[in-house]
Amino acid sequence: MVSPVPPYYLPAENRYQQMQYRRSGHSGLQLPLISLGLWHNFGGVDTLENQRAMLRRAFDLGITHFDLANNYGPPPGSAEENFGRILQMDFRPFRDELIISTKAGYYMWPGPYGEWGTRKYLIASLDQSLKRMGLDYVDIFYHHRPDPNTPLEETMMALDQIVRQGKALYVGVSNYNAEQTRAAARILRELGTPLLINQVVYHMFNRWVDPDLLDTCEENGVGLIFFSPLAQGLLTNRYLNGIPEDSRAGKPNTFLRPEHVTEQNIAKIRKLNDIAQGRGQTLAQMALAWVLRHSASTSALIGTSKVSQVDDSAAAIKNLSFSADELRAIDAVLAE
Ligand SMILES: NC(=O)c1ccc[n+]([C@@H]2O[C@H](COP(=O)([O-])OP(=O)(O)OC[C@H]3O[C@@H](n4cnc5c(N)ncnc54)[C@H](OP(=O)(O)O)[C@@H]3O)[C@@H](O)[C@H]2O)c1
Repeated sequence: MVSPVPPYYLPAENRYQQMQYRRSGHSGLQLPLISLGLWHNFGGVDTLENQRAMLRRAFDLGITHFDLANNYGPPPGSAEENFGRILQMDFRPFRDELIISTKAGYYMWPGPYGEWGTRKYLIASLDQSLKRMGLDYVDIFYHHRPDPNTPLEETMMALDQIVRQGKALYVGVSNYNAEQTRAAARILRELGTPLLINQVVYHMFNRWVDPDLLDTCEENGVGLIFFSPLAQGLLTNRYLNGIPEDSRAGKPNTFLRPEHVTEQNIAKIRKLNDIAQGRGQTLAQMALAWVLRHSASTSALIGTSKVSQVDDSAAAIKNLSFSADELRAIDAVLAE
């Protein structure tokens, strides 16, 4: 483990005046409206100093929630290792001010026990994650994706056991639709460990979140955290003038490919950018405000590649309200 070395990191004293927080569902736990995920740009292939600078700036702005998963990297596991290093260097004294989450569900190691949703996989994976991050417990542990072949009871009993063992304080699910969320919430309620939150994709170009899911989460007291609210960078000014080399679409082996940056998308992005400017916001800020407009939403979970993006995105909370005309104008662009 790396020991803290001078100059020690002293977070901004006004950090809790910079952010707003919402309770997750019926729980008491408040999450920042903007949370930071470590899926991209925090792997072994990325610069540790940039990662450290982004995490420090985020915390300075009151972003208390950092989201990880067993497989984030590349290579898989390296985002947790890097986070563990930075935690040790900068954030150890502030552990109790942080909500750290991790997940298991996607492929992590070979053989029948290295992915999906069995008790065997989930418990082994969390133990590995805790070692990589140098933590005794995470704040939220997620099942990362529904498993069609494991009884939901087994997966939920494993989550309940993890909380009882003290390895996670709360549990969540990710990529669960309304019906799966209802079933998971019921089983966990019966076990005595409430379902804290569902983590799902939601942005202007992807209406995966339907009214049924919003209602289900509200009725069951389950929070909602929306991932990729910027459509991995499309809903920003990043691609207005082509595909920069250092962008996600410009880099190899990412899920945002140059072919997603279509003429049709760019035409819409330009019009959305105009609407955002009319609100005195950047497009990224308007895209974040747009997902946070639902009363069922708890937090927007962003990614960043630079400190300036942390600043820009966190400032979205300065204008979260939309007029009916603005919402209609956005819908009209999206329907084109
Ligand atoms: N549960 C799941 O299955 C799942 C799946 C995916 C993601 N997630 C979580 O969600 C987090 C966020 O996902 P994401 O990275 O796809 O989110 P995103 O916020 O939609 O996209 C992040 C990218 O947008 C660009 N960007 C961010 N802020 C910007 C700004 N203010 N101005 C201009 N460009 C900006 C950057 O692109 P460049 O890199 O090009 O600069 C950044 O890497 C992940 O880290 C992970 O924690 C969960």
